[in-house]
Formats: sequence, C-alpha cells, structure tokens
Amino acid sequence: MPAVGFGEVPGKHTPDGPLGAPPAAEDGPVYDDAGTGGEEGLAHKEGDYRGIQRDPGPERLRLRELAASLDPQTRRHILDLGLAPGWRCLEVGAAEGSMSVWLASQVGEKGHVVAADLDLRFLAELDLPNLEVRGLDIRRDELERAAFDLAYCRTLLLHLPDPTEALRKLANALCPGGWLLVEEPDMCVFTAADPDHPRAEFFERFHRDIYQHFRTVKLMDTHFARTLPVLFAKLGLEDLRYQASARWLRGGSLEVQSPLRSLTILSPPLLEAGVVTQAEIDEVVALYANSDFAFLSGLQVVACGRKPGGSALGDQVRR
Ligand SMILES: C[S@@+](CC[C@H](N)C(=O)[O-])C[C@H]1O[C@@H](n2cnc3c(N)ncnc32)[C@H](O)[C@@H]1O
Repeated sequence: MPAVGFGEVPGKHTPDGPLGAPPAAEDGPVYDDAGTGGEEGLAHKEGDYRGIQRDPGPERLRLRELAASLDPQTRRHILDLGLAPGWRCLEVGAAEGSMSVWLASQVGEKGHVVAADLDLRFLAELDLPNLEVRGLDIRRDELERAAFDLAYCRTLLLHLPDPTEALRKLANALCPGGWLLVEEPDMCVFTAADPDHPRAEFFERFHRDIYQHFRTVKLMDTHFARTLPVLFAKLGLEDLRYQASARWLRGGSLEVQSPLRSLTILSPPLLEAGVVTQAEIDEVVALYANSDFAFLSGLQVVACGRKPGGSALGDQVRR
C-alpha cells in the first residue's frame, strides 16, 4: 500500500514527492552544541535498548516487517538527495541491513557503505565487497569526522537517552556537501479512518494511552520525532527539508504486521503497569486483523540537511 502524505512540518502537502521546502534555518555552526534543552529532553529513553535481549527469531521478523513497510519511502527520499555511484554512506541502527544492502547496490564498487548497529546478530551475515559491518553504540562510540556523503538513521533516535548528541555525531561524520537524513516515528496520530466507526474512540484512546505510558516511563520518546526540525536547524546544516506523513493502513494487510508485532511484544509491561487490560489488547488485535477497519498510522517524520561546502557537481558524482 503506498504511503499517503499527511502533512509537513512546515510546508505544503506533498504526498509522494520530494521533501518539502526548507523553513528559515538558523545560521551558524553549532556542531559541538546542538542541544535543544527544554522539557522534551525529560522524556528521552532511559536504560538500554531492549531489542538486543529478545529472541533472534521474533526480533528478526519484527525488524523485517518494519523494514518492509518503511524501506520504499526511505529509498525515495535518499534518491531525491542525489545518491550516486561512488558515495560513502553510513547507516546507524542498520538492524537486518536491508537499507545498507540497497545503498551498497546503488553506490557501486567505487562506493562504500558502513552498516552500524549495537546488535550484530543479523548484520554479521552480510558479505558484500563495498559494505562494512560495524559494531557501534552511538551513545558511547565516536564516528570518523568528515568521512561520509550520506549519514542516515531511522527509528533509532527515539530509543536513545541523548538523541541530540547522536545527531551531532552524525552531522560531524559528514564530508562537505554530505547529507544527513533522519526518519523517526511520532506516535501522535493512530486514528480510525472512519471517525464514525463504533470503536474509533476506543482505538484512539488505547494508542494515546500506551504511547503516553512509554514516554512517561522512558521506554522510548514517542514524541521525539516532532522536534527534529528544531534540532536540525541547530546543526549548522543547509538545504534543510522536513516532512511528516501518516500512512493509511487497512486491517489484515501486510503493513499492519509491524505495529501488531510491536504491540504483542510490548503488551506484558503494559498489562503489568495496568495501562490497558487483556480484553482491550484483544480488541485492538482484532481490529488490526479486520479488513473492514482502517486507520492512520503514527507520523513518520523525515528531516534532512546538507553540510556546507562541496560543489553542485559533487551532488551527482562526488569522485
Ligand atoms: C527499531 S530498530 C530500527 C531498525 C531500522 N533502522 C529500521 O528502521 O528498520 C532500532 C535499531 O537500532 C539499533 N540500536 C539501538 N540502540 C542503538 C545504539 N545505541 N547504537 C547503535 N544502534 C542502536 C537496534 O539494535 C536496532 O537494530
């Protein structure tokens, strides 16, 4: 099912086209201090990323479903930046590596892709001459400076205690003219497509409550993605572009497998905390499976910007 544009931050509606026009960016190099401060920081994740502790079988399926639902849109965004043979690319939080493998196929034998992750259980299998698999904890490890034409991450920053610091590292890893592209979910929509559906209100309240809970207990910052434009404006990048879109999903479709699996995995702590009941979870699972029910997913926020320097020619063929 194709992604349906829901909106932009800020700008006009462009469902499937290039990212929206840049807002007025704040000038100035702030590579060493991109902090937003403010109350948003209070909700950032605490503790370690839990996926690494899960059984490899279900975790692999979850990552594969997530990639299958998001890769097509991400590939379009990266192509819009001018990805070309010879580019050096970095993906942090590469998971199973589907995007890194695709990047390796695009940059060719003269290009290079680094697929980095905390969890190497799935990446370790990859064996391509222009793809380097790297164990990396973006919270603690440093990245080489001025080394990449593209630095990219998706659905990573909401899981970090200090996403601003990770953004700073990614921005510093760019060579002049290099692009930073970040895509993160913001769980602020999850609304029934038919507002008059008898369970619409229940469905919306359920998701509002669980995502607020995850944020309150700092399991993940489900409202982080909306701050990306503000953070990007402080990174000293230019050509800033932002977009936020929700997808229209039908129950029983392939696309709902990813949110459904996440709900299954996250149900035990929700039940334990008394946020929802088993009966409510069962009802939402039934709605996810019901082809007569459709809903708008959370927002997928995309932000990108380019490190100053480099030439117009370098956009197409950097070497
Ligand atoms: C929710 S998955 C997203 C996977 C993939 N980026 C996607 O969007 O399909 C988050 C990924 O980030 C990785 N990750 C989490 N914390 C990390 C950290 N501190 N440093 C590097 N990778 C991390 C996880 O191991 C996992 O592969």
